[in-house]
Amino acid sequence: MNEELWNRVDEFLSNKLGTSDPVLEAALRASADAGLPAIQVSANQGRLLQLLAQTQGARRILEMGTLGGYSTIWLARALPPEGCLISLELEASYAEVARKNLARANLEKLVTIRVGPAADALAQLFSEKTAPFDFVFIDADKAGYPNYFAWAMKLSRPGTLIVADNVVRKGALLDSDSNDANVQGMRRMLDIIAADRRASATAIQTVGSKGYDGFVLARVMA
Ligand code: SAH
Ligand code: DHB
Ligand code: MG
Repeated sequence: MNEELWNRVDEFLSNKLGTSDPVLEAALRASADAGLPAIQVSANQGRLLQLLAQTQGARRILEMGTLGGYSTIWLARALPPEGCLISLELEASYAEVARKNLARANLEKLVTIRVGPAADALAQLFSEKTAPFDFVFIDADKAGYPNYFAWAMKLSRPGTLIVADNVVRKGALLDSDSNDANVQGMRRMLDIIAADRRASATAIQTVGSKGYDGFVLARVMA
C-alpha cells in the first residue's frame, strides 16, 4: 500500500479535472471550523456521484448521512431546478453546518435535511407515500446499512440507482469473524443485495485521499 502516492494522484487528478471550486472549498473549511470530522467523500468521488446522478436524469435524490453537506452539494448540483434532495442526518449540529453550506451554494431550495435517526426518517417517508427516488446515496452509520438498503429498495422504482459508500474499509470486508459492527453491517448488506433478484449490483474498490475503500452500486431492475 502506498497512501502517499494515492493522495498525490488524487490531488493531481482533482486539479487536472477541476473537481473543486470555491463553494466546495468553503464548505470544507466551514465544516472543519465547526469541528466536524473530515470524513466526507473526496472531490473526485463527489464528481463521480454527480455524474451518476446526472446520468440517471435524477429529479429526486435521497441521501443518508449529511455531515456538513459536502456530498449533498455535489448531488444537488445534478438536479434540475424543480428537483429535490432529501438528506438524513442524526446530529442536529451537523445539519446546521450543512444548511449554511447549502445556502452558500445556492441550493437550499432544492435540499431538505431531516434531523434524527435515518431509520425513523425512512419509515416516515414510506408512510408518507413519498414519490420514488431516482438516486439513493447510503453513507450514514455502517451498522445500519442492511436496513437502509432495504428501505432504499422500498423507496425506489425500476431504474433507480442505489450507491453505498465505505464498503471495503481497507479490506476489512473479508473478515467474516469481525467484531466490528461496521464490517458486519457491510457484509449483511451485501448478503441482502445478493439475495434480491430485483437488484443488479457491482462494487468498485477505490484508493485516494480516503485511503482504500469502495462503493457498491445497485440498479433496481423490477
Ligand atoms: N455524506 C457525507 C458524509 C457522511 S459521514 C459526505 O460525504 O459529505 C456519516 C454521517 O452519518 C455523519 O454525519 C453521522 O452523524 C451520520 N449518522 C450516523 N448515524 C446516523 C443515523 N443513525 N441516522 C442518520 N445519520 C447518521
Ligand atoms: C469514515 C469515512 C466515511 O466515508 C464515512 O462515511 C464514515 C466514516 C471514516 O473514515 O471513519
Ligand atoms: Mg462515507
